Amino acid sequence: MSTAPHDGAREGAREGARDGAHDAPDDTAKLMEAGGHLLLRLTALLRTARTYDVSNQAFQRQMQEFVAALRAIHEDEDEAALAVVADYFYLNGVRIKAHATLLGAYHSLMAEFERRQVGGLRFLPGVDEAEIERFFQIFQAAEDPAIAEHLGDTLVEAAITNIVVVPVAELEVDDVTRDLADQPKQQTERSRAKKVFWRAVLGTKKIVLRARATGRPDLRQAKRLVQPIVDSIMKHEYSIVGLTALKEHDEYTYAHCVNVAILSIGMGQQLGLSRQALADLGVAGLLHDLGKMSVPGDVLRKPGALSGEEWAMMRRHPIEGALMVSRMPGLSVVMLDSMRACFEHHMNYNRTGYPEVDLEWGQATMSRIVAMADCFDAITAHRAYAKRAQTPFEALQILLGPNRVNFDPAVLWALVKSVGLYPAGTVLQTASGHVVLVTSPNPKDGLRPHCRVLVRPDGSAPAEDAPELWDPMPDGDRAVRVLLPEEYRGKTSDLLAA
Ligand SMILES: [Fe+2]
Ligand SMILES: [Fe+2]
Repeated sequence: MSTAPHDGAREGAREGARDGAHDAPDDTAKLMEAGGHLLLRLTALLRTARTYDVSNQAFQRQMQEFVAALRAIHEDEDEAALAVVADYFYLNGVRIKAHATLLGAYHSLMAEFERRQVGGLRFLPGVDEAEIERFFQIFQAAEDPAIAEHLGDTLVEAAITNIVVVPVAELEVDDVTRDLADQPKQQTERSRAKKVFWRAVLGTKKIVLRARATGRPDLRQAKRLVQPIVDSIMKHEYSIVGLTALKEHDEYTYAHCVNVAILSIGMGQQLGLSRQALADLGVAGLLHDLGKMSVPGDVLRKPGALSGEEWAMMRRHPIEGALMVSRMPGLSVVMLDSMRACFEHHMNYNRTGYPEVDLEWGQATMSRIVAMADCFDAITAHRAYAKRAQTPFEALQILLGPNRVNFDPAVLWALVKSVGLYPAGTVLQTASGHVVLVTSPNPKDGLRPHCRVLVRPDGSAPAEDAPELWDPMPDGDRAVRVLLPEEYRGKTSDLLAA
C-alpha cells in the first residue's frame, strides 16, 4: 500500500540527510531542542486526546501549545518530520537526545507509534488546527490494528494533506539520519533492555492508574511486563539491572516498582530460584507498594518529617496493598506471594519495621528479597529534603554496614552479587588513570563492571556521540577510588539513559 506521500517522505528524508543544509552545529542544536519540545507537546496532546473529546477545552489548550511548537519549527524548516528508528527519535534527521527530563515522554510516544505501526509523522507548514483535530481523532482510533493498517489511506480520505504518516516498514536508519557516523547500533543488548525497561515503567503506570479506579491490580498485565525481564536475566543480560540506576525522571514513582522487580529477579537468580519462581518474584516486586495508593499524595510527597497521624497512614500501606491483591478473583501462587510481599516488605530480618508482628512471624523468602531490593532502590533515590541522593556505592556501604542486621545475610549477599561492588551509576577512577561511569554489573567479576569512559588519562573526554564503552572493564585495570558527586561534577544521568 505504498502511496505517493510515503515515498515522498522517504525521499524527502534522504534528501535532507544529504543536502547539508543543516550542517551548522547551531542548526542541529536548535533542532535537537525543538525536537525535545515537540515530543513533550505531542505526548501531552495524545494523553489528553485519550480522555477528552477534541472539542474539549483541555484538548484545545494542549493543541495550541502543540501548534506553537510546530510553528516555531516551520519558521526555519520546510517541514517538521518526526521519525523513530532503532529506538531513537529524529526531527528532520537530527537525533533527539533522551535527556532525563524527556525520558517518560520519549518512551511513551515510542510505544504509541509502535502500537500503530507508525515510523514517522510529517507536519507540513500548511497544517491548521482543524486538520490537527481530525488527525488526532483518527490517530486515536488507530489503536485498533484494523484501522492502523490503513491509516495513511484513511487520512487521505479525511482530506488531511498536511500531516503525513510514514509506516514503520518504510523507514531505515539511512533514511532519517543526516550524519551517517551518528547511526546508533541496531538492537544491541542495551537497546533491547531499554525497550523492556520503559515498556515495564509505562505498563506499571497503567496498572496503578487502573487499580486506582477498580480497587485491584491486573495481575495478568503485571506478569506480561515481568516476563521479558526474567528472560533477559536468565540469558545473563544485565544491562537492564544497570537501568535501575536511572532516578532523575518524571516517571520515577513507577520506575521504582520496576526497579524493585528487576533487582529482586537479579537476586533471585543468584539464589538459584527457578524461572517460574523468578516470574512470581518479579510480579511481587512490581506490586509491592500498591498500598501507597491509599496514602494521600501530599503525605507521600511531603518533604521533611511526617506528623504522628501521617506516619500512621504511611505505615498502613503494606496492609492496604495486601488487601488490594486479595481482591483479585481466584487464587494462585503468584497472588499469595504478591500479598505477602506487600504485607512484609517493610519488615526487617530481626522483626523490627512494620507492620508490627511478634518474633515467631516467619517472613517469606520472597518478601525478604523484595524488602532488600526496595531498600537499595529507595536509598539511592533523591528526596526533596536531602541535599543529594546517596550514590549506589554509598547505599551498599550503608546496607553492608550497621544496617546489615535488618537483612537476611543470604539475601544481602545476593544483592551484592547482582549489582556488583560498584553498582551502576558509580563514578570510578581506575589504575590506568581513567574516570569511568559504571553502566551495568558484571556478575562474573563484581570488581570489573561494564563502564563508559568519562575522562581519559590525558584529560580528554570522548565525544558524547562516540562513546568509549568497556564491556567489561579490561582485565589489567581496576578501580582505585570511588568519586563522590562533589568530586565529579559532570552530569551522569543522561549518559546512563543513553
Ligand atoms: Fe513500601
Ligand atoms: Fe517501595
